[in-house]
Amino acid sequence: MKKFVFTIIALLGVAAIQASILPVYLDENRPLEERVEDALSRMTLDEKIALIHAQSKFSSPGVKRLGIPDLWTDDGPHGVRPDVLWDEWEQAGQTNDSCVAFPALTCLAATWNPAMARLYGESLGEEALYRGKNVILGPGVNIYRTPLCGRNFEYLGEDPWLASRMVVPYVQGLQSRGVAACVKHYALNNDEEYRHQVNVMVSDRALHEIYLPAFKAAVQEGGAWALMGAYNLYKDQHNCHNEILLNKILKHNWQFDGVVISDWGGAHSTEQAVMNGLDLEFGTWTDGLAFGTSNAYDNYYLAQSYKQLILDGKFSTKELDEKVRRVLRLHFRTTMNRQRPHGFLCSESHYDAALKIAQEGIVLLKNEAPKGKGSMPILPLDAALKQRILVVGENAIKMMTVGGGSSSLKVQKEILPLDGIKARFGNAQVDYARGYVGDTVQSYNGVTVGRSLYETRSKEELLNEAVEKAKNADVVIFVGGLNKSDYQDAEGHDRKSYDLPYAQNEVIEALVAVNPRLVFVGISGSGFELPWLARVPAVVQGWFVGSESGEAIASVLAGDVNPSGKLPFTWYADVNQCGAHALNAYPGVWREGHKIIDEEYKEGVFVGYRWIDKQKLKPTFPFGYGLSYTTFRLGKAVADRKELTGDQQISFTVSVTNTGKRSGAETIQLYVSDVKASVDRPVKELKAFQKVFLQPGETRDVTLSIDRNALSFYDEVSGQWKAEPGTFEALIGTASNNTPTKCTFDLR
Ligand code: BGC
Repeated sequence: MKKFVFTIIALLGVAAIQASILPVYLDENRPLEERVEDALSRMTLDEKIALIHAQSKFSSPGVKRLGIPDLWTDDGPHGVRPDVLWDEWEQAGQTNDSCVAFPALTCLAATWNPAMARLYGESLGEEALYRGKNVILGPGVNIYRTPLCGRNFEYLGEDPWLASRMVVPYVQGLQSRGVAACVKHYALNNDEEYRHQVNVMVSDRALHEIYLPAFKAAVQEGGAWALMGAYNLYKDQHNCHNEILLNKILKHNWQFDGVVISDWGGAHSTEQAVMNGLDLEFGTWTDGLAFGTSNAYDNYYLAQSYKQLILDGKFSTKELDEKVRRVLRLHFRTTMNRQRPHGFLCSESHYDAALKIAQEGIVLLKNEAPKGKGSMPILPLDAALKQRILVVGENAIKMMTVGGGSSSLKVQKEILPLDGIKARFGNAQVDYARGYVGDTVQSYNGVTVGRSLYETRSKEELLNEAVEKAKNADVVIFVGGLNKSDYQDAEGHDRKSYDLPYAQNEVIEALVAVNPRLVFVGISGSGFELPWLARVPAVVQGWFVGSESGEAIASVLAGDVNPSGKLPFTWYADVNQCGAHALNAYPGVWREGHKIIDEEYKEGVFVGYRWIDKQKLKPTFPFGYGLSYTTFRLGKAVADRKELTGDQQISFTVSVTNTGKRSGAETIQLYVSDVKASVDRPVKELKAFQKVFLQPGETRDVTLSIDRNALSFYDEVSGQWKAEPGTFEALIGTASNNTPTKCTFDLR
């Protein structure tokens, strides 16, 4: 007993001593804001200035004297980018920075499954932790405004609701591992060409209804700890220091308490960076004096010039302290968080996650019987058969995790489509013909591709070889599409046209002319013209699906996985079906002097299917569309009330039956239509969805709920969201062009 009392007293004593010596900012039991204020109060001017700008390509310093470690950022968003040198873009040459590549974000969006986004975030967070990264530069949520944008593959599609529902769990999953998401590129960075010069002119309605919701959801629902300012301008101000976007909307209206990080080199002025909301500056290529020199971090806009302005009395430390508070908060949430779990690199669970997301995101776009070959759809292919399969196309042997800009990765494994098909169709005789040459570059940013793409044969020789082999094949699988080369799905430029590059169309036409049993597998982050569609019986959109690419694609072709992805964007028949192009509102008009290009988003809120509906167009494949190897039947939707007032919800229930012979998943989509409005509203807008998995013959009720927010538009007069009383329709179905059941209700 005596011993016990003694122990208790001793423990209490230790706790008391610890409490008295542990500074508040180090005490994880204290509220975050107290810790921030305490750390701030201990910092010198130099330490504060150091904290708000980079010290290397991807890190900023902590406060050594206070035991606050460096902050390490890294791209993002599909895996953890390999390390570059401290001060250069060259590879650091580490041997422990090969990661798992998760599917590109367009594929994630195509799953229409928020659980997949959560899994993605968690897995990526664990990889980042192992690699010592505290901030992942992603996810990207810029809207797919034009199919030509070079970075569409890094984003979540054309619809603000879909992007919002997918970004929230991604952010939460990542941050659950103590790694910050840095949601990018805020905002209006919807094309890559001239990204440093584009000044976007957009209506307030389109800004709030189309371009901001995913950012807002990431901040308010996802609780994002960081956000990246975009390169382009809005209202003549660069978005890395933009009064309206950062101060007014993000920090004031949305109450964002995290850090605004500049895109690399996106800051342009000390005064604006100080006043207009930038907190942490990265990547500036310095000014004239130090241009191009290494270790020029002192010349950053938020470095010595800022300090001097403070010393000269031009600025007080009010703005500085506010920036420091935000960066400290980020440190406490990440680097200083002792509760963070351990990280893992290339764990089996991460590969499983990558595979699962890929399999759920792949979209079956067409599946019919080959011309003159009966009535059975060509897919799935029977892997038990001893058949001759010919694989054609460069994308079957090209690593796609390498290239495309800052999202380029160094992977431990990437199963190429040809290898995946060979492995899965072991009973078949699988042959390969390249068919065409696209890009033979062997390495990107210091990372070498696994398989040599060197080729000496002429275009004719390649084509002839493919056609000759196709004549004797039981089935031809053409794996093509875009790639990550410049002017394709790649950062820095947009595509120059909506066509398939490298004369692939010619090859496809020649193949299908000799063998109608042709399956086209597209690898890309955007749509393209499919002039041969009527002659090709099956089309599968295989995206850029990362490490497990070949396995995922083969599992869908073989029917091990029943495809359930749905397009997160409209697949236009030609580029002029897209509002931005139809109205000649891309890429904008140069101002005199060629420093700024004004890009007016003339289509307003009519982006993607909103434009298609308004113009009554027929795209090749609509938004929300995707087939399955089974079939589904929807019952009649029933609403739980006839009218809605105040903050009431209204729910719609519809039964879904799997009427086929395979288990599969269908995504039930609810679009709202405002029957009569005082402004020009889209015919319908996605406001709820749910993916359901059903066994053959199984029926389930799906209930989708909305409230008045789903009925609102952004009123430019009051600057508020407004839902006008009157009649609305809930259109329910399985794609934006297929909403067979509807309920009418009133808002009072
Ligand atoms: C890209 C960002 C990226 C950054 C760091 C920039 O060029 O726009 O998305 O995170 O580089 O690599």
